[in-house]
Amino acid sequence: MRIFFFFFFFILLSLNSLVFSLRTLSGPCKTLNPNQRALRSDQITVLINGFSESRIHLLRSIASTYASFPSVDSVLILWGNTTTPLKTLTELSNNLTFYSFGAQISVLRQSTQSLNARFFPRPSITTRAVAICDDDVEIDRESFEFAFKIWSTHQESMIGFFARSHDFDLLKKSWIYSVHYDKYSILLTKFMILNTNYLYKYSCGSGSGSDNDMKMVKLRNVVDEMMNCEDILMNFVVSSEVSSGPILVDAKKLRDHGDSRNQNGEEGERDVGLSSRRREHRKRRGDCIREFHKVLGRMPLKYSYGKVVNSVGEQGLCEKGGKLVLCDEQDL
Ligand SMILES: *[C@@H]1O[C@H](CO)[C@@H](O)[C@H](O)[C@H]1NC(C)=O
Ligand SMILES: *[C@@H]1O[C@H](CO)[C@@H](O)[C@H](O)[C@H]1NC(C)=O
Repeated sequence: MRIFFFFFFFILLSLNSLVFSLRTLSGPCKTLNPNQRALRSDQITVLINGFSESRIHLLRSIASTYASFPSVDSVLILWGNTTTPLKTLTELSNNLTFYSFGAQISVLRQSTQSLNARFFPRPSITTRAVAICDDDVEIDRESFEFAFKIWSTHQESMIGFFARSHDFDLLKKSWIYSVHYDKYSILLTKFMILNTNYLYKYSCGSGSGSDNDMKMVKLRNVVDEMMNCEDILMNFVVSSEVSSGPILVDAKKLRDHGDSRNQNGEEGERDVGLSSRRREHRKRRGDCIREFHKVLGRMPLKYSYGKVVNSVGEQGLCEKGGKLVLCDEQDL
């Protein structure tokens, strides 16, 4: 009986690792580890998540805008709605080729609805930096180039424009999702820049089938079960590798149209006060943080304080000819 049990256990174990290697080594992880590839650092690949057909218009304009930025190597639209007819996507692709100039824009229909798919390390990515963004945010060229410049000097850090926080609720004795005015530990995928390495780490772990890789499988399963929080998990992955928190960058002109997949969510909603939907959204995000923490057995998220700004304007007022003017408008 004991022997039988032992065998049973053994078979379970090998099944487990077989499933693991099938899942990781097929698909996205077949791509060479970015560490072993020559990736260029002077340009960046933009990955935009698209899902809603009613927003293709907006997506087209956002993709063309990114493609026109000088530092952009290529733009990849990752289309996540698997039921959208191929014809629509071909049309979108043709329209983009026809009306856009600058970097190449490709439309890629995802083969799975899994939110994890947006982080697949794709062979078509030939840059060391990737910008991950949603189809609902428009960013001006100057802010984009500035964020990329900051990444260039902090290549292991995550850079972004939208910040949130984890926190520990002392009363409930549990991790929660929150917003603080003076600190942050999570950047949203509305827009973030990170090292291509992290796509591989997120999707494949180290690729060796180690204990940590098994944990990555469990963590990605949490994302699939919750149908949410892939962005939070990426923050966990990056924070586990670096000793400092993410870097929030100041943007000059941001236009946030609100996430269509997240109509129930907090992000993009402009109303004041905590509606019940927003509360539900926060609760779910808190559940993710707790689950991730449980799988990892530790909390890798780290707080950052402050924001990196592009230029420091003179804020003092000086008297000039009897009038108060900004001091830097005065000839000094
Ligand atoms: C996804 O595609 C299907 C099929 O075209 C469509 O009916 C549905 O509205 C799409 N979902 C969104 C959010 O656009
Ligand atoms: C492509 O462009 C045509 C003409 O401007 C427009 O009618 C159509 O809706 C566009 N289709 C997509 C999918 O972008």
